[in-house]
Parts: sequence; structure tokens; C-alpha cells
Amino acid sequence: MCGIIGYTGDKKASDIIIQGLKYLEYRGYDSSGVAVLNDGVIKVAKKEGRIVNLERHLEEYPLEGHLAIGHTRWATHGRPSDDNAHPFISFHTRFAVVHNGIIENYLEIKEELMAEGVVFRSQTDSEVVAHLVEFMDKGDTKRAILDAVAKLKGAFALGIICVDSPDVIYAVKKDNPLIVGVTDNEGFICSDINSLQKFLSEVIVLDNDQMAVVGRGKAEVFSFDGIPVKKERIKLTAEEENALSDYECFMDKEMSEIPSALRRAIKFYREEKCFSKIDKDYLKKIRRINIVGCGTALHAGLYGEKLLNKFIPDVDVHSEMASEFRYDDVKVDENTLTITISQSGETADTLTCQRMVNARGGKTLTICNVPTSSMVHYADYALMICAGPEVAVASTKAFNCQELVFAMFVFDLALLRGTITPETYAHFCAEIDALPEKAEKALALREKISAYAARNFRRKSVFYLGRGMDYCVAMEGSLKLKEISYIHCEAYAAGELKHGTLALIEKDIMVVALVTQKNLIDKMYSSLAEVKTRGASLTVITPFADNPSLLDIADYIMEIPVTEEVLSPIISVIPTQLMSYYIARAKGCDIDKPRNLAKSVTVE
Ligand code: AGP
Repeated sequence: MCGIIGYTGDKKASDIIIQGLKYLEYRGYDSSGVAVLNDGVIKVAKKEGRIVNLERHLEEYPLEGHLAIGHTRWATHGRPSDDNAHPFISFHTRFAVVHNGIIENYLEIKEELMAEGVVFRSQTDSEVVAHLVEFMDKGDTKRAILDAVAKLKGAFALGIICVDSPDVIYAVKKDNPLIVGVTDNEGFICSDINSLQKFLSEVIVLDNDQMAVVGRGKAEVFSFDGIPVKKERIKLTAEEENALSDYECFMDKEMSEIPSALRRAIKFYREEKCFSKIDKDYLKKIRRINIVGCGTALHAGLYGEKLLNKFIPDVDVHSEMASEFRYDDVKVDENTLTITISQSGETADTLTCQRMVNARGGKTLTICNVPTSSMVHYADYALMICAGPEVAVASTKAFNCQELVFAMFVFDLALLRGTITPETYAHFCAEIDALPEKAEKALALREKISAYAARNFRRKSVFYLGRGMDYCVAMEGSLKLKEISYIHCEAYAAGELKHGTLALIEKDIMVVALVTQKNLIDKMYSSLAEVKTRGASLTVITPFADNPSLLDIADYIMEIPVTEEVLSPIISVIPTQLMSYYIARAKGCDIDKPRNLAKSVTVE
């Protein structure tokens, strides 16, 4: 949801900004821009569309200088256009500002500034910040920024430069991520830790209500009250190479990394004794578990809910999409645990729920991929999924790892509470160990699915069906397909279809069914017969590929390795990920950057 970056140092600043923006492009790709300070003058270049448009523009009209801020945008207020692109310049061109987030009271501030004669050039909420800072400026830049920030309501990560400070970038953080880092003679700010890997070996992660003054080789952090704050430097350790290498796109690369990500997650969870870091007495007392997330993370949560219901029957489990959870009158007491799930750890809807629960005195546990994220920082407990950087907007390996870590947590909790025996626990551990290899086998379906996609990419409508745990995977498969291929797609609990939606099934509709639970084969067969009779084309994802009923009814069978049934969603989702990828590819879609979306949605 917008990416910001800033650089000061010996190199040509606009080059560094373009390189950094390319890593941040997954956060938004409606427009991009750069502001460079040189010889006491700020110059700006902004272009609608992808960063390559800005890059081409800068090749033709270079901006010289060693201090710059840049931005890549996911539009909220004001349509994507050159005018609405960041950075914004203040009325006397003394300040330039880039912003990630939403300024909720921008209309109020805009009216006040317009009454003072300030002319606005965009429809964005962000432009007010540039004018407001200049309006507050009485000769002390840091003070002016803090005074301006005190007037802002909403969520904001800001990068600010000023003609009076030729070597300094000001970074401000409230509820949106912001990282700063320095080398001997350089200073950086950035929305995302992974984007700085190329430039830095350690970073400082700003907390809410903090500002940093970043110069060459030096970063000072202050609270919004202007009081200096001592900050720890965090070493950057690359879990996976953050560049494309030989892959066609990041989604392709990230699916290939599923086996290694699962291996790493298992190792980390065990070696770091992650479960033991959670208070045992509290875990024994829990009576209720809320599970909250968005999109793919929510689907991993739904899987977790099924596991909890199965293995910890004396706990009430309630899963909910984060954007609704906060409006529900959800019970939170000392015996309630709320689990937030998020790849980024910055999704505003989920983060808001986590804060709401903490504010009500409830305990939170986050299952997350980014150790430096807000969710990890503010949760009472964190389980890291160790998937490595995920750049493609469509989440893949993070989902497999979220499911895995959730399952490991549930088995540990069940053992602790005595609802499974040590023998059953040992059996599950062995089955977990086998997952990376099974993921490799499932990925071997690539060729078959590529050919399948070539025959099916023109479909107009697709339905994913499943029962029990398979329903969670059906939802994830459906989200993935619509997200990157723009094909209309819905997921249904197979038994529910006949209560209305069956009316939509006709010839040429594609139905994809997940059948991984042995005791549900007969029931699934009945549902599949209903769609087949109405002329749908039927694809079945199953480990029971020689089952006569399935063989008889399916047009296509995608065989996956036999897996312990309660763990099968970690493997059965892989063909659905591959199907989405190859269908989107056959349609010529921009797989890593689907229209209208952004990787990290940091506005509510
Ligand atoms: C997944 O393919 C999506 N891009 C999206 O649903 C995503 O999972 C959701 O926005 C939540 O993101 P998070 O895991 O970073 O919180």
C-alpha cells in the first residue's frame, strides 16, 4: 500500500531510488515519483503507471543530486495520475514529502491551508502534509515536522526532505512501517526491510510515534515529543535471495521455494523451541480462541480453526475476517487467546484487531512472516513462519508455511492439554517431516498443469469445491485464481452448492474439487455428480487417484502425494497455486502485479 524510500550519500540519488522502488513496487504500482535536492533546489519527476515509466523519464530528463526521496503508489484518495503521484512539494517548494497511509483529517487541514492561500495541485490526502510542514516552519525543520505531525490524524509513514538540510532525510512513523539504516557515508529510509538488503547489513525499525533524522552515516531517533530514543540495530539475514534469478516472475520463484520454506519453518520452530516461549499455565487455561486475518492468511486461519476444533475440543474457536472482527462484539477475557495471521505483519485490518484485543486486556499471538513487523512487535507471542521474502502480490509459500506453523502449534497445544497422546504427537511430527518432500512431488505437476491451463484458460467461470478441511483450500484456490487471472471464481462447501448456486452450473463451467479426506469421498462424489450432470468440466485434486468413482467422474485428475489427512491442505493447495499461475500466464496477465491490488494493504 505505497512504498517509500529515501537516500543520502555519494551516489547519484535518483539511481538508488529507482533501484529501491523496484523492490517496493509490489506495495503499489499506480504511479511513482522521485524528488531530488541539488544546490538548494528540489526537483521532482512523477509518472503514472509502472516504475519503468519513471525510469524512462529520468533517462531522458536526469535529476542530478545526492539526496532524494521516492514513492510507488497504490491509489486511495485521487485516481492514479501524474498529478496525484508523490512526492508532493510545499507551496514555496522548500519541502518534499512522500507518504504511505491515510491522513483522515486531510479535508479539514486542506480547508485551513486554502484559507491561508495555499494552492493544491492534487486530489490526494497526502499533499496536505507538505504544505502543513512548510506552514509550521519557523526555522527549525525538525520542530516544524513534529508540529505538523501533531495535527495529523490517521496512519502515516513519511519521508521528508527540506532545502535547509542538504544531507538529511526526515522519517516519521505512525501505524505504517518505516525502516532506517546507515552505512559509513550513506543514509536510507524505506517501507520494507527486504528492499534494503541490497544496500545494508543492519537496520533500525522505527516504532509508532517516532521520527528519525537520517544523515550520512548517522541516524537519530526521537519520540513525537522530541525526546531522543535509543534504538537497537537489527542484522539483516537473507532467508532467500530477493532477486528473480532465472524465474519468470516472483510467484513462479516463490512456489518453487515451498519445500525449502517448509523445511526452514520446521527447523526454526523446533530449534528455537517456539512453543515453549508461550506461557504454559496460560495455554492450559485458554477457553476461547479467536482467529483473525485477511485473504490468504484468513484461509490459513480457517484451516487452523478446523484443527483446533478437532484436537482441542474443550476450547471455543471463532475465526473471522479482520475487517469484520473489529465490529463484532467479540468476547475477550483473560482466558481468550486471539491469533492474528499475516504474511506481512502490517495489514491494517488485522493489526487494528490485534490492537483492539490488546487494549481490552486480551492476549494475542501472531503467526507471521516478517520478524520486524508491527504485528510481531506488538503481539504478546509470535510464531514466525520463516517463508522468506514474498514479493508476488499473490501469496503462495507463506500460505503453506502459515498452515504448517498453525498445525505444529495445535499439536503442541493438544499434547500440553492432554487431548492427544505422545504417540499421536510423534506420528504427526514424523508426518510433518515428510511434508517438504511431498511438496516437491506436488510441484512436479507443473508440466501437466501447464498443458491443462493451455486448454482451460478461456473459461469464464470456475467453482472450487471441498468439504471439511478441503473447503479451506477451495477458498484459497479460488482467491488465487481470480486475483491473478481475473476469471470469475467462487469457492463452495460442496454440500452447500445444491442450496442455490447449483443454478449457475452449466456446460463450459469449470469445477475444481478437492478430495483429500477418505471418509468424505462418497459425499463428495454425490456433489460432483450434481455438477457433472449439468455439463460442468470437472477437475479433481486428490491423493486417491485410483478411486473408481473419481476416475469415472473426473475430466482431469491432479494426483497429489498421500499425506496424513489433517496435514493434507499444506500439500493439496499446491496444484491450485500452479493452476492459477499457469492459467494467468496463458492469459498473458501480469502475474506479480495484478490490477487494482497491492501486496501489503496498510489502510483499513
Ligand atoms: C493473497 O494472495 C492476497 N494478496 C491477500 O489476500 C493477502 O493474503 C491479504 O491481503 C493479507 O495479507 P497479509 O498476510 O500480509 O496480512
